[in-house]
Amino acid sequence: MATIDLEKISDLPIKLNKNSLEFGKRMKKVVPEARTHKRMLPVLKNPEEKAPEEFYYMYRDVAIESDRELIRKNNLRFDITILPPFLVGDEYNKTFGHYHPKVPGTFLGGATWWPEIYEVLHGRAHYLLQNGSEFLVFDARPGDKCVMLPGFGHITVNPSGKEALVMANWVFPGFASDYGPIEKLGGGQWFETTKGFVANKKYGEAPNVQLISPRDFEEFGFSNSRPMYADAIANPAKFEWLSKPQNYLELFKKYRET
Ligand SMILES: [Fe+2]
Repeated sequence: MATIDLEKISDLPIKLNKNSLEFGKRMKKVVPEARTHKRMLPVLKNPEEKAPEEFYYMYRDVAIESDRELIRKNNLRFDITILPPFLVGDEYNKTFGHYHPKVPGTFLGGATWWPEIYEVLHGRAHYLLQNGSEFLVFDARPGDKCVMLPGFGHITVNPSGKEALVMANWVFPGFASDYGPIEKLGGGQWFETTKGFVANKKYGEAPNVQLISPRDFEEFGFSNSRPMYADAIANPAKFEWLSKPQNYLELFKKYRET
């Protein structure tokens, strides 16, 4: 497979070469962390099936070197994740899935949890969001942005079967994700398979799968027609909803209703 140039879509001098990133000028190489089959076993629909040793690659804190200070000062981190295309039995390759903790000092009607924003750079993504009473699925293609809403656990699926998924995220770097609930329940509430969504029986009754589309939301500083790396560097204050979500509760509601 030829090298795929991701500069136009991401606004970073990066290329995809098989299942890894090549970093161009103005960047230092980031060494990825691999999520292993062994670690994924508790959340797989078909743990007994054959699978590759590595499921996906996480490049944390990716940046143009001269942007690092601005990114740090604005309480942000930019990551890139690569999910190769394969099946484990009938289940598509996916991330482990996790929840974000509650923002300290928020409670009752004002309680909120750290959000996150995802962007597809190559391939196709299904972003699965669950909070017990709702199960949302974003169907996203290159350029699309999807907000991981406060309080929703989230899992990324590569539903292509053929093409690697390359995706980016902006996130507040000051919290640790919680993998426990999804690990205890053996995966998300629904598994995505070649035959469609299959309910995970370890949960109680599952809410219906609700398909939602990636939408522009200028109030949060992004659009599906522009790379979000560039938008945040040009106007980091517009991305403060990632580090101080408690000040943006009305906008999260509006985003959901758009
Ligand atoms: Fe997350």
